[in-house]
Amino acid sequence: MEGKVIVITSGKGGVGKTTATSSIGAALALEGKRVAIVDMDIGLRNLDVVMGLENRIVFNIVDVVHGKCKISQAAIRDRRIKNLFLIPASQSDNKDVLTTAGVERVAEQLKKEFDYIIMDSPAGIEKGFENSIVGADEAIVVCTPDVSAVRDADRVIGILYSKSLNPKLLVNRIEPARVERGEMLSHEDVLEVLSIDLAGLVPMDEQVLISSNTGTPLVLQNESKAGQAFKRIARRLNGEADLPIQAPELKTSLWGKIGRTFGLKK
Ligand SMILES: Nc1ncnc2c1ncn2[C@@H]1O[C@H](COP(=O)(O)OP(=O)(O)OP(=O)(O)O)[C@@H](O)[C@H]1O
Ligand SMILES: [Mg+2]
Repeated sequence: MEGKVIVITSGKGGVGKTTATSSIGAALALEGKRVAIVDMDIGLRNLDVVMGLENRIVFNIVDVVHGKCKISQAAIRDRRIKNLFLIPASQSDNKDVLTTAGVERVAEQLKKEFDYIIMDSPAGIEKGFENSIVGADEAIVVCTPDVSAVRDADRVIGILYSKSLNPKLLVNRIEPARVERGEMLSHEDVLEVLSIDLAGLVPMDEQVLISSNTGTPLVLQNESKAGQAFKRIARRLNGEADLPIQAPELKTSLWGKIGRTFGLKK
């Protein structure tokens, strides 16, 4: 059987692509799949730090594409989750060292060795983005509930359609309290503008930062709301298409609920 390449992309930077890549990859591995996550953000390198694997790097994706090493030499096994491997970006090369043909060839090889290959795309729509989508079978567009992120996501979705990909939307960093106060777009607002299928909804969660600072997978933290949301996204990608999408809920005190019921509080 052939594996599947999924690209995680966004347009706007800093919306949660790397967080989504590491969490969805880890969750798919916990489902028993053999997973490679590939850092296509050449020159910046991020995934290895988030995963706590930065000291183990010897080879990287540029070395693989240039034939300097085998995939098995560049793939670093995760410390905690077996079946999860990272192929890191290189820090020194500039973003244009890879050719789309080279990446496409490596993507085909990866599909023979892994069930899922998750590509973490750089921000923007330049060459690095092109390279990260070239071998993709599926695409997930990450967007935060703000106007500039939605605008950039819209552009990226157009490009993905033009490459015959049918992207799904992941809305990240949702803060129900701010949505309720009218300070933040709701996920329905975002969906109405972008009108594509939903991959999932992920709340703002302080565990995300703690997890990346300590190099521990978010999806292993049972109390993490974002971790739970990513797990459900992974299960939907992995064949459980009917698993319902849960909207992040407002954490309310009993008094808040009573207040709202009687129209005392907005
Ligand atoms: N659901 C969340 N809750 C809280 N913080 C989050 C959440 N998702 C991401 N973050 C934080 O937002 C920041 C940006 O996330 P991340 O690095 O995943 O974005 P990115 O899209 O990969 O950025 P870049 O475009 O620079 O590659 C990080 O500090 C991360 O910890
Ligand atoms: Mg990133």
